[in-house]
Amino acid sequence: MKRRILFVDDELNILKGLQRSLRPLRQYWDMEFSEGAVNALELLEKQSFDVIVSDMRMPQMDGATLLKIVQEKYPTMVRIVLSGYSDQEMTMKSVKSAHQYLSKPCDKKVLITAITRACSLQDLLNKKPLQHLLGGIESMPSIPALYAQIMEELRSAEASTASVGKIIAKDMGMTAKVLQLVNSSFFGIPRHISNVTEAVVMLGMDVVKSLVLGIEVFSMFSKKALSIISVEKIHDHCVKTGVIAKDIATLEKMDKKKADNAMIASILHDLGKLLMAQYFYDDYKKVMEMVLQKGVPVFKAERQIFGVTHAEVGAYLLGLWGLPDNIIEGIAFHHNPSNFVLKGFGLCGLVHVAELMEHHEQRQPGTWDTLNGLDTEYMDKLELTDRIPLWREYIQKK
Ligand SMILES: [Fe+2]
Ligand SMILES: [Fe+2]
Repeated sequence: MKRRILFVDDELNILKGLQRSLRPLRQYWDMEFSEGAVNALELLEKQSFDVIVSDMRMPQMDGATLLKIVQEKYPTMVRIVLSGYSDQEMTMKSVKSAHQYLSKPCDKKVLITAITRACSLQDLLNKKPLQHLLGGIESMPSIPALYAQIMEELRSAEASTASVGKIIAKDMGMTAKVLQLVNSSFFGIPRHISNVTEAVVMLGMDVVKSLVLGIEVFSMFSKKALSIISVEKIHDHCVKTGVIAKDIATLEKMDKKKADNAMIASILHDLGKLLMAQYFYDDYKKVMEMVLQKGVPVFKAERQIFGVTHAEVGAYLLGLWGLPDNIIEGIAFHHNPSNFVLKGFGLCGLVHVAELMEHHEQRQPGTWDTLNGLDTEYMDKLELTDRIPLWREYIQKK
């Protein structure tokens, strides 16, 4: 099916430039180019689009206002801001209703990739069974308080390692949990970390931020879910998976940012299980029974009973909370990275292998040979299957 993309800018030259450079994509995309926000809204009344790519600074109506209206009227449309570099900071502060921010002049490849991956995520999240399932949840849990506070702080100009550390330190329970995690053996930090600021310095802001989010989310889920799944076990599995994913990324000489993101995606990858167990207790109980009786993996039992899996449900919630797209993709495709549109060893693949390795280590420490459930199509294509023994050796030595 062809995608419908709407580009909005007040400068005709820019629109013409886009039209020219994107011409080769006409076989995949139906593109419309609209001069100004008012014209765009008129067009939207008549036709539907999958993605809108809008400029920020425009006379009459600016991009922020346009995207806000689009968000309200057409909530499933992917909203991308394409703004001048100097406006970037202002844009990110003022536009809360965009999914992605790109700066002008934008490399054609970057723009195409952004639109393509947005469409693929939208496909996944727009599936009927997921919509149906989400419709059954009265109100989605809102973003955890401490995490929201950290995000807010990071938006301010004075944000620093120390100021973020201070916010976390105010919450003694959280501080204790973060320190307990980072000092646990699987993090492999050679010395004892005694305060949160130190943890932020050692692990990086993004990792600590996601640890906080993980702790908050996992403790948010009530006792009801507790009787069919162990929230603590899932959390433990997620954090350990995070460490393994980061180790693999480092062994494969990926950059630090990617390694950190792999850890973040892993820390949250099974979050959807809690949501499903909490809101659909009876059906989730059936899932767990099926897993026990037939020995099928959890996600397969979920798909059979719900039509969707915890991967998509978790990705949806985190998307709602504004986590970056690549993290959400890593979570959404963690059981089947070969289904993701962008090829290459990315976050989906890292979370996938890391979580399987974690499971196997848990069940047969040091003795497993092959990874059951591995997406062999993905691994073979990328010639990664032979790397597994090396990764295994590394994590087992730790
Ligand atoms: Fe999973
Ligand atoms: Fe998992």
